Parts: sequence; C-alpha cells; structure tokens
Amino acid sequence: MTALKSSPAGPLSGTIAVPGDKSISHRALMLGALAVGETRISGLLESEDVLATAAALKSLGADIEREDDGTWRVFGRGVGGLAEPASVLDMGNSGTAVRLLMGVMAGHPFKTTFAGDASLSSRPMERVMTPLRLMGAQFSSRDGGRLPVTVSGAASPIPVTYELPVASAQVKSAVLLAGLNTPGRTSVIEPEPTRDHSERMLAHFGAEVVIEDRTEGGRIITLTGQPELTGHDIIVPGDFSSAAFPMVAALLVPSSRVELTGVGLNPLRTGLLQTLVEMGAAITIGNKRPEGGEPVGDLTVQTSALKGITVAADRAPSMIDEYPVLAVAAAFAEGETRLEGLGELRVKESDRLAAIAKGLRAAGVELAETEDSLTIRGVGGGMKSIPGGVRIEANLDHRIAMAFLVLGMVADAAIEIDDGATINTSFPGFTGLMNGLGANIEPENGG
Ligand code: S3P
Repeated sequence: MTALKSSPAGPLSGTIAVPGDKSISHRALMLGALAVGETRISGLLESEDVLATAAALKSLGADIEREDDGTWRVFGRGVGGLAEPASVLDMGNSGTAVRLLMGVMAGHPFKTTFAGDASLSSRPMERVMTPLRLMGAQFSSRDGGRLPVTVSGAASPIPVTYELPVASAQVKSAVLLAGLNTPGRTSVIEPEPTRDHSERMLAHFGAEVVIEDRTEGGRIITLTGQPELTGHDIIVPGDFSSAAFPMVAALLVPSSRVELTGVGLNPLRTGLLQTLVEMGAAITIGNKRPEGGEPVGDLTVQTSALKGITVAADRAPSMIDEYPVLAVAAAFAEGETRLEGLGELRVKESDRLAAIAKGLRAAGVELAETEDSLTIRGVGGGMKSIPGGVRIEANLDHRIAMAFLVLGMVADAAIEIDDGATINTSFPGFTGLMNGLGANIEPENGG
C-alpha cells in the first residue's frame, strides 16, 4: 500500500481535462462486445475498473485492442454471441462491471463465475439476481448474495417488467442488458430517475428503446429484445464524478481559479453542481455541446464562500458518488448542511456514510450521523478552522481516499490516507493532476 499525504495547498490554478467517464467507459466496451462489427472508443477511462471489464469481455470472446493513440477498438460477437469463459472473471473493485455483466450473462446459456476484491466481495448482488431470476437465469453465490457468484444463463430468457426497489442505474442496466438477448419487450420502471447512459448508448447502437415519464414520477424504460446492434464510434466525455474533486478543492482553497474542460454534464449526473451553486459556489459552464450522445461542457470554478443547505433525498440518485467530497465542502460552509436519503452510501465500495463521518470527526468536524443522513456543522469563513492532522483508512474506496486528500489541502495540518493505490480504480493520474494545479500530495515516508 502506498500511503499519501496531502498538505495545505497554495492557490489552485490552471486548466485540466479529467479522465473519461467510468460509467460510459464500461458500457461502451460491453455494447461494443455485443455489437456486430467494429466499435472505436476514444477517451476511454483506462482505470483498473474499466480494464477489468475489458479483460472480462476478452475472456468472453470479444476482440479488444488499444491503438497507440489511445483509441480502443472492439470487435463484437453480436447480441447473445459471447462464449463461455475458461476461468473465473475477476472484476476487481468494480460494482458496475460485475452487476452489468451479470445482466449480460443472464442471457447466455452457460455458466460464468465472477469474483472480486474484498470490497466488491462484501457488496450486495441480490439486487441484480432477483430480477435476472425472473428472466430465467439461475445463480449460486456466497451467503447474503455475495461474490463469488456463478450465473447460469437462461437458454430461453423471458421478458419482464421490473420495478426497481432501490434507485440503482446498475440494476436498471443489468435488466436492460439481459433484455438484449430476450425476445419481446423488457421494461424497467424506475420511481426515481437514475443515470441513463445505458439507454442512450443502446439507442446509439441501434436498439429500440422507449422512455416514458410516469405521472406519479420516475420513468418506464422499454427495450425491444434481440436487436442487431452495430458497431459505433464513441467519444467518452470527462467524468463529472472525477471532476468533483478538483471542483471542490478549487472552491475551498483560497484565491483559486480552475478550468475543467470536456466534462460530461448529463443532467442525471450533475446534482452536485446544482447543490454547490445553491451553497454559493461560483461555477460557470462554457462551451456546452453534445458529444457522442451526451452533453459536455467546460467548467470554471473559483474560490467561494459556501453556506450550509439541506439536500433532500430526491437529489441523491443524481449525485450518489459525490457525497464524500460534498461532505468536505460542507465542513467549510457557514452553518449546517443536512444531507438526506443516503442509505445507498452504506453499500458502496465501503460504508461511505460511516467512513465520511469517522474521518471528518477525526479531523475535527462536528457532525451527526443517522442510518441515512448526515448533518455537518461547517466552520464557515470566520476564525474557526479544521485541525486535520490525521490518518484515514481508505478501505479500498477510491472516493473516500480522494475526498480526504482534498480535505488535507484546506485543513490546518496534513491529512494522510493509508492506501493511495485505490484511486486507480477510477482516477489514474489524480495526484499528478492535482499537484499540477497547486496541491501538495506526496507519498508518505516511502509508505
Ligand atoms: C453506476 C451507478 C451507481 C454509481 C456507480 C456507477 C453506473 O451505482 O454509484 O459508481 O455506472 O451505473 P448504483 O447503481 O448502485 O446506484
């Protein structure tokens, strides 16, 4: 493990492009593997999670190559055309990879076994197995629906209409991907809209996808099964969830001004932007444009005095991965910030709600934690500050690691995290990019 230490930073300034979107990268590789012909992907996130998806798809028979210029070429096998893997597929740390591929493999009539690291092996998989069983797939898993999981795909999958019991784009996507090799129409009802990259990309590859808004809120997504997907070019935008870290750092470090170019601005992903603006953040969006079926823009962020607000539960799906860094911003806001509807944070790469609360308290922040909410008392712009000077366990959670490194930039004394390598699951090059802006993040004592 490489420990990292983030010491107080001078003003942050400069222009950076964050790496490609993780959600879109996984989906581009998967749909490329299920399409006929060639898919060329530019801007693919080359992080451990996405490389795990690429390796798994190769084991399932897809041809995947990286060109020297960074373009990835996928030669697909067609819908239902993947082959039985010779060994267990190791999905590393990636919940998205394993849950979406469980959906894909539910419609392939052979056995596929998935394993993962300690973090992934503790996360719930029952949420995807339940709808996929209704479609005819069978599963065996460790107790509690944990990895390793073996999927026995259905020879004759059955279309379903499934209402999501939790707001989860991964569960929605697993059902839709299983629906690809299923005759007839597969529908997912989502009471609260979640990121729609799967729907957008399925349509981009030629599938028939109909989205209806429900009068009682949420949407119904219907996919017509057994389409012929054809290989397509994909441009992956910068990951808003990665941009969130330099964004919050620039808001908090005095006298900063940072530009983040080519950031994905899918409205189902940008709840943090809305929240920070409500808190008083000076963030402007320029050059807004569509790119590869997704909205993209350049963000300019300047140091701002933030004030505490209440973030209601219905916003959680659009910013679910951003709470760790939002909590850091809230710690510096004037007054209290109340974050509601955080139950899902307990089943992320770690129990993020507990990790945020424990780490912030250790650093000297006052807060109250309930089963699904967090109330943070910010120190504001007055004489008070946050002592810091603590070591945080990342627990194989990249976003906990990055959020606390951001805290180290603005606390009185440095923050250390025990494991910097975990950041490579989503944001390779994080330390270099942040230091290029003026941060002060170093390996700790050869740690
Ligand atoms: C993702 C969905 C979200 C998110 C994850 C990526 C996706 O998970 O937290 O980082 O790509 O579909 P849930 O579906 O569990 O909310």
